[in-house]
Amino acid sequence: MKIVIAIDGYSGTGKSSTAKQVASRLGYHYIDSGAMYRAVTFFFLSNNIDFKKTEIRETLKDCSITFEGTSIYLNGKCVDHEIRTMEVNQHVSEVSAISEVRSKLVEQQRKMGEKKGVVMDGRDIGTVVFPKAELKVFMTADTDIRAERRRKELEKKGMNESIEVIKANLIERDKIDSTREDSPLQMAEDAKEIDTSHLTLSEQIDKIVEMAESIIYAS
Ligand code: DC
Repeated sequence: MKIVIAIDGYSGTGKSSTAKQVASRLGYHYIDSGAMYRAVTFFFLSNNIDFKKTEIRETLKDCSITFEGTSIYLNGKCVDHEIRTMEVNQHVSEVSAISEVRSKLVEQQRKMGEKKGVVMDGRDIGTVVFPKAELKVFMTADTDIRAERRRKELEKKGMNESIEVIKANLIERDKIDSTREDSPLQMAEDAKEIDTSHLTLSEQIDKIVEMAESIIYAS
């Protein structure tokens, strides 16, 4: 039997890297839901759309998001790199608090998980997108450790940013993500919490693969 694995948690806890590897170990599809919110944010920013005022529902009709493997495309153009800038980081929480944006993306995410065999990471996957997911994981980690991980990630991509700016952005995003009205970031009651502060990436992956296999083989 194929299952749905929902991985939620704060920014910089290693969700995406973990989820991607878990999917590859199980032969499942990996879907980065955060990348979809980032692509919509990039769409607004690059088209100078004032998302606070404009009739968002109309504008969203011109914003098509697709995946090819793990690469994300906005209106047919790969935007893997463009969605990871500090400018997108600074606006993505605000954009992802807009209900019209959420309902469009949640509908698309549910379709992608219809056939199961998916690992999706985000903020509301276990609570809203797939409340019946067979395995739900909620990842947490110390804020300083998360900031340092993000700094290294940006550095690898040639973007140098100070640890203070990155940390402030993480704290701000956590606050907006967990206090917004529509689908706030919260741990599902039936999720398993993993604190990744002192775990290596491969330890995180092993833990989740183990949990998944025990569900898959028990069914
Ligand atoms: O996982 P990430 O840092 O790439 O996510 C970027 C932003 O998108 C994050 O600040 C909150 C938002 N997001 C969301 O609201 N719901 C999701 N399922 C995934 C991400």
